Amino acid sequence: MAVVAGLSLGAPVAAVAATSLEASAARMESRIQALSQFGRNAEGGVDRVAYSEADLAGRAYIIDEMKKLGLEVRIDTAGNILGKRAGNEAGLDPILFGSHIDSVPGGGNYDGDVGVNGALEVISMLQENGVQTRHPLEMVVFSDEEGGMPGSLGMSGRFDPEQLSGVAHSGFTMAEGLERLGGDPARVNEANRKGQLRAFLELHIEQGGLLEQKALEIGVVEGIVGISWWKVTVTGVANHGGTTPMPGRRDALVGSSQLIKAISEKTTALEGRQVATVGKIQAFPGAPNVIPGRVEFSLEIRDLDSAKIRLVFELIKSEAGRIAAETEVSFDFAPELELLPAPTDPAMRQVIEEAVVELGFSYQRMPSGAGHDAQNLATITPTAMIFVPSRSGISHSPQEYTAPLDMARGAHVLYQTILKLDH
Ligand code: HGY
Ligand code: MN
Ligand code: MN
Repeated sequence: MAVVAGLSLGAPVAAVAATSLEASAARMESRIQALSQFGRNAEGGVDRVAYSEADLAGRAYIIDEMKKLGLEVRIDTAGNILGKRAGNEAGLDPILFGSHIDSVPGGGNYDGDVGVNGALEVISMLQENGVQTRHPLEMVVFSDEEGGMPGSLGMSGRFDPEQLSGVAHSGFTMAEGLERLGGDPARVNEANRKGQLRAFLELHIEQGGLLEQKALEIGVVEGIVGISWWKVTVTGVANHGGTTPMPGRRDALVGSSQLIKAISEKTTALEGRQVATVGKIQAFPGAPNVIPGRVEFSLEIRDLDSAKIRLVFELIKSEAGRIAAETEVSFDFAPELELLPAPTDPAMRQVIEEAVVELGFSYQRMPSGAGHDAQNLATITPTAMIFVPSRSGISHSPQEYTAPLDMARGAHVLYQTILKLDH
């Protein structure tokens, strides 16, 4: 669909880009392919967890692309990569846009990557179309989106230094990891940009199947879920697996399994879209012939409403109390992360919708069930998000896929929205 052909005479500066959708699609696909080499796994996705060698190599590739496009690149204290393009009017705050390139373990090639590629594409289009903006523009690649979002938390001045000692998927602590990225773990919150930005925009894949099912090209995000993480420690008594009779055992893994089942049942039974997940578990000492004396597992709860997250947590804690009495193990819940739910900025949503209509794309408004750096930026600056379709709604998997033209449509909406905000 060639909707972005030339400007008409007398059109405002923010008119539709001269770069064709096909040209953007080809350029974005080639950058996605190039980036996918860093941390590539056997299934064709990536293991590019934050702070790993693959993350470092992927970041180096993006920094190189940013420099080739003439951006002035720096790393802030939270390990974010920032690339600036000057505006032509003094005293205006930058318009910031970008996403992340770190992945979950066993991840795909599009989560975060499309937003970073979209940001590069916007800069490419501006160069190609000879557009000079009034506001400075800044592209960002956030650090460690998938492991606790220190980058965007730092940029919004709300990073909790307690996170620093946590061991990331890479095996490094977050403190070690941020240092590897060129950040400064002791000064993460000095990356704070409160009061210094005009707006933040993030292009991202939907990670669900709604756009594809309805054959829509763009999603305009109305709000992003809140995410809370706890580390649950279950304590029983370790003992010999052969000589300890079944009655009277205080098996931490048996207690854990009962609670995990209850977490799923209680969360499902409530009305609404809340979700709870236990995604990581470890039994200690961890031998076939030893009754587990201790178990550690993760608990994540998400909803668009913080009160609902608290309600689910209270229900889970009360189940834990009941199961503890029955099985004689104890449960401890240590909070590890709290990302607040964030509505996007209504005026920015409207600007995006105008851009989408001008470009001739189909769209719908929708919530985001996935977390994004945008929810942290929303606490300091007007923030909005643009979604593009994910094939079969699959994400956090090597099967993740978004077609080149869909990526390009997202980048053109991002471009057009930035130019509108510039006025
Ligand atoms: O976990 C999330 O929702 C995001 O992909 N980091
Ligand atoms: Mn993700
Ligand atoms: Mn993401």
